Amino acid sequence: MKILVVGGGGREHAILRALKKSPLQPQLYCAPGNGGIGYDAVCKAIPATDVAAMVAYAKEEGFDYAVVAQDDPLALGMVDELAKAGIPAFGPNAAAARIEASKVFSKDLMKKYGIPTAAYETFDDAAAAMGYIRARGQYPVVIKADGLALGKGVLICQDEAEAEAGVKEIMLDKKFGASGNRVVVEEFLTGPEVSVLSFCDGKTVVPMVSSMDHKRALDGDEGLNTGGMGTVAPNPYYTPDVAAVCMETIFKPTVAAMAAEGCPFKGCLYFGLMLTPNGPKVIEYNCRFGDPEAQVVLPLLESDLLTVMQATTNGTLDKTEVKFRAGAAACVVLASGGYPVAYEKGKEIAGLTEGQLPDAPDVTVYHAGTACKDGRLVTAGGRVLGVTATGDTLPQALDKAYAAARRIHFEGVHMRSDIGRRALAALSQN
Ligand code: AMP
Ligand code: GLY
Repeated sequence: MKILVVGGGGREHAILRALKKSPLQPQLYCAPGNGGIGYDAVCKAIPATDVAAMVAYAKEEGFDYAVVAQDDPLALGMVDELAKAGIPAFGPNAAAARIEASKVFSKDLMKKYGIPTAAYETFDDAAAAMGYIRARGQYPVVIKADGLALGKGVLICQDEAEAEAGVKEIMLDKKFGASGNRVVVEEFLTGPEVSVLSFCDGKTVVPMVSSMDHKRALDGDEGLNTGGMGTVAPNPYYTPDVAAVCMETIFKPTVAAMAAEGCPFKGCLYFGLMLTPNGPKVIEYNCRFGDPEAQVVLPLLESDLLTVMQATTNGTLDKTEVKFRAGAAACVVLASGGYPVAYEKGKEIAGLTEGQLPDAPDVTVYHAGTACKDGRLVTAGGRVLGVTATGDTLPQALDKAYAAARRIHFEGVHMRSDIGRRALAALSQN
């Protein structure tokens, strides 16, 4: 069986590593992939967003299955095009990917089906948006670009002046391009955040182990928003009671709503939740595995990922076992100095042998932004590596991940030193 994974970051590496363990022994390919992924899969330099070239490559190689892991090719309909070419793929079609690709679509879906989320209004006119924000007069206020914006299209504005600047940036200056043609203005919620990824086959939803992301660049949740500087799983705030509430009020209703709207969701549906004083609410949906959530969730998956993925495509998830091991996982991201703003690339990475750390049991190094240059690994992106460790407990997993991360070096390397600190504090209160 030949399988293509579309994407080239740490999440895709985590997916490939999980597929590599499959008893079905697939031959693994990745496009575009990266330097470190090259040790685990055949990489082909096709941009993930080039749907036509990707489908042509998939036909040429005769792949039996594809995994489209990244949001933009999903929104562009890569799964639809692969299906037309006779290649089944993991991930939603373009219609279902709107649950992430359009905030207006997802907010309207939640309103229509009574799924708990922040109160909101949508606007396609900057003056009208500002008029509403002024009349409402409550701060902070949250402004979201409608479309995909590399995770940067959400602004939390503390006062009218910030809101004005935000609306201008998104709607008039078009900082996120056409993604800012419409905005959602919503209520500011408070509470611990939880990421829950789930497998969906259009009818059945099976949540995976919960996780916690650390989105800000610096310790203490200071600094700019990033794609994610580290993760832990499970998330201690996500107790069995909370999970039961989420299943009944959010997960099942969302999957049923998508089916009722004529766009059943197949693939990985990511619920970004906030546990507010008024119960769990949806902050956002993503139509794919989180990055770096996949790097802590998939190492805890005991069942065969390939079998489960195929069950989402075939609609047989209700008959498929999805089991996670007990214990915990932690991922610490090593980033280039200056990320998420300006940073240099091409720095040699020291400490790895064939992309991995020797003599580091329970540790996997997932490559996010690396390249192979003259046989040496060099940095090639903002987030460079995700160092994941598993353990029987969260403290064990964190100790192993940090010990491993400190053995890897490149010029300017930056990591947060407090990944998991809040989770540990929550654990000690339980
Ligand atoms: P997103 O890009 O949708 O994941 O949003 C980025 C971050 O903004 C989230 O992880 C939250 O921390 C924060 N956020 C988004 N919406 C709200 C909201 N309504 N209230 C408070 N924080 C929010
Ligand atoms: N880590 C957040 C995301 O993948 O969207």
